[in-house]
Amino acid sequence: MRIDILSAVPGLLEGPFSDSIVKRAQEKGLVEIVVHNIRDWSTDKHKKIDDEPFGGSAGMVLTIQPIADAIESLQKERHYAEVVFLTPDGEQLKQTAVNHLSMQGNLILLCGHYKGIDQRIREHLVTREISIGDYVLSGGELAAAVLTDAIVRLIPGVIGDEQSALTDSFQDNLLAPPVYTRPADYNGWKVPEILRSGDHKAINTWLEEQAIERTQALRPDLFEKDS
Ligand code: ADE
Repeated sequence: MRIDILSAVPGLLEGPFSDSIVKRAQEKGLVEIVVHNIRDWSTDKHKKIDDEPFGGSAGMVLTIQPIADAIESLQKERHYAEVVFLTPDGEQLKQTAVNHLSMQGNLILLCGHYKGIDQRIREHLVTREISIGDYVLSGGELAAAVLTDAIVRLIPGVIGDEQSALTDSFQDNLLAPPVYTRPADYNGWKVPEILRSGDHKAINTWLEEQAIERTQALRPDLFEKDS
């Protein structure tokens, strides 16, 4: 799987993919993440990529040409399942969408900046619009990093213990049960006895009950949704 990220400030994406799970996934050849500077495609002699909005509102808008050329040149090289635009007015990201995207093949992630991007890019080139929450970031880069991280950890072979991604919170619309490690007793703070009993059937039942109880207490809305 290959993920191409188009950004006006690619430096923002230097950190998130150069450590830990996403770094190892790239080293193992399970995913290729390529960050592009939109400016590289600008045909303007000053490499300009933004302009004033028609109608005179405040802020600058990313122009069509560099973004259209970037997307079209990538699409000439290989097939992409989706061109995703990260934007606060997109569909709110849920684990089900992450699961789906992780199985789709190559992706282009387009990061907005300034006041936004020319609407015609959204109409003609973007196939899906995603928000990571009801708040406004300075640009789509951090959202693209969130989406990429969430997708990459689901690619088979990325997480050593295959079970572990399946037992994440939100898979099955349930929050994950609590976890504990040694010491079993830290100054009187004790690990639940059942987890040390060795009775795997009883432990699994307890974990399931904990997941349900935690979801009921913290996120009862998850029981009402199918997404
Ligand atoms: N760009 C700016 N804010 C965003 C958000 N909340 N989600 C996705 N992209 C964004």
